[in-house]
Order: sequence, then C-alpha cells, then structure tokens
Amino acid sequence: MTHPTRLQGKVAVVTGGGHGLGAETARVLAAQGARVAVVDLAYEGAVQVASEIEAAGGQALAVQADVRSESDVQAMATTVTDRFGRIDVLHNNAAALGVAQRQADRDVCNVSLEAWDTALDVNARGAMLCCKHVVPVMLRGGGGSIVFSTSGFGQLGDITLTAYAASKAALMALARSVAAQYGKQGIRSNAIMIGFVLNDHAQKTVPQEVKQILLAQHLTPDLGRPRQIADAVAFLASDESSFITGAVIPVDGGFTSHSPSMVPLREYFERQGSNKL
Ligand SMILES: NC(=O)c1ccc[n+]([C@@H]2O[C@H](COP(=O)([O-])OP(=O)(O)OC[C@H]3O[C@@H](n4cnc5c(N)ncnc54)[C@H](O)[C@@H]3O)[C@@H](O)[C@H]2O)c1
Repeated sequence: MTHPTRLQGKVAVVTGGGHGLGAETARVLAAQGARVAVVDLAYEGAVQVASEIEAAGGQALAVQADVRSESDVQAMATTVTDRFGRIDVLHNNAAALGVAQRQADRDVCNVSLEAWDTALDVNARGAMLCCKHVVPVMLRGGGGSIVFSTSGFGQLGDITLTAYAASKAALMALARSVAAQYGKQGIRSNAIMIGFVLNDHAQKTVPQEVKQILLAQHLTPDLGRPRQIADAVAFLASDESSFITGAVIPVDGGFTSHSPSMVPLREYFERQGSNKL
C-alpha cells in the first residue's frame, strides 16, 4: 500500500541511510511525502540514495556524519535545519555491522575490546547524540517522532555478538527514557525490534545453513524484506501512530514471540505424524 501524502510537510533524518534498511526507509519516507536527510559515515551511499529520491520526484539531502562524533552530529542537525527548516522524524538506524566488526564480537571471553567499544559507540552513543541534538529542534517545531532500530539480540541471550546485544538493549532503555522525558512536549519515541532481514549484504555473506536456522524460528513463510521494516518506521513516523510511545515493537515475523522449544517440538511432531501431546 502506498501513502503518497502521509508524511507531507515532515522532515525526516535517517542515520545509516546510505545502505541496507536505512536506505529503503529513506526511500519510503520520501515516497510518502517527507523531505529526508540521508545521514551516513559512508558519504557515497548517502549521495546515491539522496539522488534516487530526487530522481523519483522527492526531496533529499545527503549528509556525511559519524554518529559517534558529537561535533559531526551537531553539524548534521544544523545542516538539516538550515536546509529544511525543521526536523519531525529521527530514525536512529546506523549501526556498526561490517564483517570485521561482527567477527570480533563474540562470546564475552572472546569479544575484542575494540569491537565492544565500536558497537557501544556507534549503536548506542550515536543514537544518544542524535537525540541530544535533534530533540531541541523537534521541541522548537512542536514535537516529533523518534524510531530506534533494535534487535532480538537486545532482548534475548545468544552465543555470540555480545557487544551488539548490549548496544541494542541500551537502545530499548534510551527509547523509553526519551518517551518519558519529552512526551508531554509532543515527542514520541519507540523502538522496533527487527527480525532477520536479508539486505543485499546479508544475502551474500550469511551462510545458507544459518539462513535456514533463522527462518525456522520466524513464524512467517519468509525472512524479512527491507520494505517491511521501512513500512513500520513510516507508520511510527506518521500521525497515525500518535498514541504509541515508549514501546518496543517487534517487527520480526514472530521471531521473539514463541517458546524456545517450538522448533524442536515441530520437528518431533513431524516425525510422529501428529501434534498430540
Ligand atoms: N538486517 C537485519 O537483519 C537486522 C536485524 C535486526 C536489527 N537490524 C538493525 O537495523 C539497522 C540497519 O541494519 P542493516 O542491516 O541495514 O545494516 P547496514 O550495515 O546495511 O547499514 C548500516 C549503515 O550504517 C552506517 N554506519 C555505520 N557506522 C556509522 C557511523 N559511525 N556513523 C554513521 N553511519 C554509520 C553504514 O555506513 C551503513 O550505511 C541496524 O541498526 C541493525 O542493527 C538489522
């Protein structure tokens, strides 16, 4: 379903908008009428996405910023406000997810300190800095909506990605803090807990066997698509979600909704030819 005017008049900032889920979200927000700042450390990606939006008739601005850097984030908020006059939507999506980072982020005895610091700095500190410098702009404009991208790793224990998990748990707390602190002044703040989504990068790098293990734990026929995440962000960015704040909303094909014994039980029942217990 398309909503060509749902976000008309709004200005959105998407961090990590130059690639993956953030890029799709930037495109969808723009297609629904928002003027979009595509913010990324990787400037080429941001420029590419902003050009695609402009070519499709939307309005976009590419901004290079390292969300770890307070001066970069402050300059980003000023640049966007100078260009578009306001900020109504902040999507805290940027995350350190390169192959080297993921491979150094293992169980707690084997996670490198560098990987720990990078995950916390980009994923958690970066989102905090964006709130710190965008919330005052939103308050001047009468309110806004902030959406954090988090993960099942932030909610449930697993055997690897210790630093990533801690950073994503921090975002759930941050989303609720911001909701509590600025709700009365018109700012809503929510987190989406994302399931496994095959962006082009994951398509190439994640082994087929791992994809199958993860698919078995989703209740949907398929793993997620970037558009499904973008649609959830667009809804939370819009006034249609005006009574939703302080929430952590699973957008995960049911990945975090079911009993841990479900998959082995399903296999057991298949072998038995019945689900009678
Ligand atoms: N893809 C999934 O299955 C999945 C699952 C759960 C949660 N998520 C979350 O969704 C978000 C997007 O994930 P993705 O798969 O699209 O990742 P991705 O790696 O494709 O995109 C991340 C973007 O963030 C940018 N970035 C990295 N460090 C930055 C920095 N310091 N400053 C500014 N930008 C920076 C990268 O350049 C990149 O464009 C992340 O927060 C991720 O944790 C994704």
